Amino acid sequence: ALAVVHPADLAGLRVVVSTGGTREPIDPVRFIGNRSSGRQGVALARAAADRGADVVLVAAHTDDGVLAEAADLPVVRATTAADLLTEMVDAAADADVVVMAAAVADYRPASTSDAKLTKEGSRRKARSLALVETEDVLATLAARRREGQTLVGFAAETSRGDELLARGRRKLERKGADLLVVNEVGWEKGFEASANEVVVLGRGGQVVAEAAGTKRAVADAVWDAVLAARAR
Ligand code: CTP
Ligand code: CA
Repeated sequence: ALAVVHPADLAGLRVVVSTGGTREPIDPVRFIGNRSSGRQGVALARAAADRGADVVLVAAHTDDGVLAEAADLPVVRATTAADLLTEMVDAAADADVVVMAAAVADYRPASTSDAKLTKEGSRRKARSLALVETEDVLATLAARRREGQTLVGFAAETSRGDELLARGRRKLERKGADLLVVNEVGWEKGFEASANEVVVLGRGGQVVAEAAGTKRAVADAVWDAVLAARAR
């Protein structure tokens, strides 16, 4: 059998990676969620650990089996955006690199009902649900960033080409991250897929890396970009 040899170029780095999709409860049986599988975040954690980093994985909901790849790593669970904020602020306190690969809900129900919502007694065929914005975890981490900490954000966009990059640049600026990994998603692209295609933007909005292939190949390219950014 062939043994895979990994470079130990991340040795000594304390890394936190968030992954998966948050779920915001509506009532005891329903939630607002998203299609994130957690695969890219787990691939990032796996790659970092293989390359010698000390890794903590903060996992929101992931597809079945996805966490198996991180079975030897410390995993902290978080359900909602609010949970994720608490766990990430805690984990980031002594981290050198923080990667926000989780798909965080932008809104949650304004209130959560302790009783299952019912249509009993209602004659109307429509109903609306009041939503409020969640906390922005990445922006909060950027505001609290410790000296020398590298903050990596993700952006899944349905636009393409120049518009994709322009949106990515605005997002990087807005969030205050050091690197932003931008990928195009669609009904058939990105989320559940095992391959991915990304562009990595640096602080000034310049393209510092492009990668396509398996989520592991993308993960290794992201870590290369992190090392290059930290060497600057
Ligand atoms: N993010 C976060 N907290 C949120 C929303 C997003 O930390 N409440 C993080 C994501 O983990 C990702 C980055 O911010 O690393 C960009 O997420 P994205 O959804 O692309 O950006 P938004 O600012 O939410 O903008 P929009 O969804 O409107 O495009
Ligand atoms: Ca969003």
